[in-house]
Amino acid sequence: MDQKKIEKIKKDLQCFHIKTSNDLETFRIKFLGKKKGIITILFKKLKKISIQKRKIYGKIINELKKEAKNKINIFHSKKNEISNEKGLQFDPTIPGTSIEIGSIHPLSILKNRIIDLFIKIGFTYVDGPEIEDDWHNFTALNIPIFHPSREMQDTFFLCKNPDVLLRTHTSSVQIRYMKKHSPPFRVLSIGKVYRNETISSRSNFMFHQAEGFYIDKKVSFSDLKQTIHYLITSLFGEVKMRFRPSYFPFTEPSAEIDIYCNNEWLEIMGCGMIDPQVLKNVNIDSEIYSGFAFGLGIERLALIIYKIKDIRIYFDNDIRFLKQFKSEF
Ligand code: PHE
Repeated sequence: MDQKKIEKIKKDLQCFHIKTSNDLETFRIKFLGKKKGIITILFKKLKKISIQKRKIYGKIINELKKEAKNKINIFHSKKNEISNEKGLQFDPTIPGTSIEIGSIHPLSILKNRIIDLFIKIGFTYVDGPEIEDDWHNFTALNIPIFHPSREMQDTFFLCKNPDVLLRTHTSSVQIRYMKKHSPPFRVLSIGKVYRNETISSRSNFMFHQAEGFYIDKKVSFSDLKQTIHYLITSLFGEVKMRFRPSYFPFTEPSAEIDIYCNNEWLEIMGCGMIDPQVLKNVNIDSEIYSGFAFGLGIERLALIIYKIKDIRIYFDNDIRFLKQFKSEF
């Protein structure tokens, strides 16, 4: 054991370039290996020399060991830095943030329920455009230019002459479908309609309607009653309902349907036998065919079913409200 030899070992150790994990392993074995590591051997030799020398060299060799270990540690921390920069830029052990699953909107739930009910009794589901022309929305439905019921359905015009507007009701789908198909048919359509209404707890400038119509030979008012009865009892169970005589330009006779709920009569839909003039407008022979039609507001129906007081809540996008319908699907 002499000073010079140890100095040489120290230099060797300091000059050793550790670039890869393999270099690190070679370094570790060379200096700290359990059997033949240079520093390990020095420690073994230490036992054989005098106590005085042992004290001096012991300190030096211990420092050497510290330096070797330090070098190993430096390599490890550098390696972590590099991999953090290039690859793992996050801590993979932290649990991920979970994504909340949404729920179906109550209006869509009701829409799907109604579609389901009518598919079961042989109706076909169709969609219609929200942008309509005057003919499909008014004229073909027997609502001539100066007819007062146009005022009831005051709407948003996209252009005048020719008139293009946001449909005021889904009855325009009757016209579109009847023009293209020949009877018999049973059709259901649900979608948005627009009216120039002040927004309040009971009304909005946009709402959803369901429209159903059935045309065949010998379709009568009793078919209409049976269909409405089926719809209402499916949605509300056994409730009292009444057909109240009413007026729509495109049905004759016409009726409004009320149901008895929480000690009051609530109006839920309009209906009637399709006016022969409407059939003529779409080239269907009214001597051979007859039919019924009905229209109902989805928002209003949902108010009753879900016991909601204010129609505006449907469109507030308040997660606390929407979340309550999770169990429905
Ligand atoms: N379209 C009518 C409305 O919006 C409802 C209705 C549809 C009435 C079909 C009779 C037949 O008020």
